[in-house]
Amino acid sequence: MAAEKKQRPKREPPKKRKTGGRAASKSAEPKTKAKASSSKTGKPGRAAPTKGESKVATKTSATSVASDWDPRIVVFACNWCSYAGADTAGVSRIQHQPHFRMIRVMCSGRIQPGFVLRAFERGADGVLVSGCHFGDCHYVNGNERAVEQFEKTMNVVKLLGLEEGRLRLEWISAAEGVRFAQVINEFTDQVRALGPSPMAGSRQAS
Ligand code: FES
Repeated sequence: MAAEKKQRPKREPPKKRKTGGRAASKSAEPKTKAKASSSKTGKPGRAAPTKGESKVATKTSATSVASDWDPRIVVFACNWCSYAGADTAGVSRIQHQPHFRMIRVMCSGRIQPGFVLRAFERGADGVLVSGCHFGDCHYVNGNERAVEQFEKTMNVVKLLGLEEGRLRLEWISAAEGVRFAQVINEFTDQVRALGPSPMAGSRQAS
């Protein structure tokens, strides 16, 4: 009998812990709130955002919008073929990416390395040089000279630490509106994949 009286008090303390004291009731309150809120959102295990969380959510959405970066591309185009090809694309309402500015020159042979380097210096992320196909140059061999100038320019671009993909040479005729759109789309995607030019920092600071 004496042994039975000693066993009863040992079983009682665990029962008191299950019902909980003040500390236990406080820790249980947030769990019940989280369960209630998760039932509202319909997503198990995920509580509905509080006021603080909603602010964080708006900030993250803002940064995601800022990360949707579009490149700035400069297109040097000869007056007689490539510029007319861009015009054909516009007249034909061929859709293409719009993140470029065109600089018209009379012949692609006029595009010196300094023109391209100046564009990069002023914040361009990519530069496209375009002219007439071989045999179509209105100045006989201006596009052949453009190739020589382009090779020199590419060497300097590499020395500056820029990627080769930021500079491109294409021949586009006046009738090739579709080709112009394709080249623009391809080059824009290519430059977008490379990201902002390291030389474009001065542009953003100014
Ligand atoms: S006129 Fe077009 S490349 Fe010379």
